[in-house]
Amino acid sequence: MTVQDTLQDRVAIVTGAAQGIGRATALRLAAEGAVVTCADIRDCAETVALADKEGGRAAAVELDVRRAADWERAVTAVVAEHGRIDLLANVAGVVNLLSPDTVVDLTEDAWQVVIDTDLKGVWLGMRAVIPQMVAGGGGRIVNISSMAALRGLPNLASYSAAKAGVVGLTQQAAFEYAEQGILVNAIAPGTIDTPILAEITDEMREANANAHLIRRLGRPEEIAAMAAYLFREGGFQTGQTVPVDGGWAAKGNF
Ligand SMILES: NC(=O)c1ccc[n+]([C@@H]2O[C@H](COP(=O)([O-])OP(=O)(O)OC[C@H]3O[C@@H](n4cnc5c(N)ncnc54)[C@H](O)[C@@H]3O)[C@@H](O)[C@H]2O)c1
Repeated sequence: MTVQDTLQDRVAIVTGAAQGIGRATALRLAAEGAVVTCADIRDCAETVALADKEGGRAAAVELDVRRAADWERAVTAVVAEHGRIDLLANVAGVVNLLSPDTVVDLTEDAWQVVIDTDLKGVWLGMRAVIPQMVAGGGGRIVNISSMAALRGLPNLASYSAAKAGVVGLTQQAAFEYAEQGILVNAIAPGTIDTPILAEITDEMREANANAHLIRRLGRPEEIAAMAAYLFREGGFQTGQTVPVDGGWAAKGNF
């Protein structure tokens, strides 16, 4: 077994770790022995307590992924405490709840919030962490995109643009840093049952569930499992966006 075949003592940062997919990812990495920094604009105390209960090692840091200074502070603190950073999961994200999200009706302010969080946040995270990975001889990054990056969907104009940007940026970072031993991949989830769905009606939940060949919503743990695979195994995998979509993209309009 090579050192990348286990996450024991790997030093990880997970954004969006206060809830949903980010929390599930942080808990999965901690359960596999990684030392996890849970980063979010929300309080990650509950995630840290859950990791602790399972015997995992996790700590919380307040971080707005849109702010370069926050990244600088968080990375400096993690390196000061643990000496390196091996893994980065860029999970934090938002959908536009500020305005309609169609090409014509979308407002500039709403566009900016989504692009800044879902795309610029991923770039700032990689920009802050990659030099530490280079210094440490390598690392792995998993960015969360969406199937909305790959197909047209109702009312997701800014979101699909941001998530398609993540696909491109993932490929570019993989291209630039493969020689330094850094593998960069993205995951494109189908519809996953997390608090991000809080605003949708029961009818929409059911329609979303039935849009998958596997007729239910995905679970955050199912995205975390793919992230863990990409972090722990997946040694011949880089620059890719991997769908975990319950067969959503394979389904015809029948
Ligand atoms: N749930 C789905 O159906 C689905 C599908 C495809 C992709 N995704 C993506 O998965 C990721 C996680 O989504 P989720 O469903 O767990 O959503 P969620 O709303 O449950 O969690 C998102 C987390 O990101 C944090 N966050 C938001 N803005 C932030 C910022 N500026 N800085 C730091 N943290 C911030 C929130 O506080 C929250 O804890 C997002 O990038 C989302 O776009 C979700």
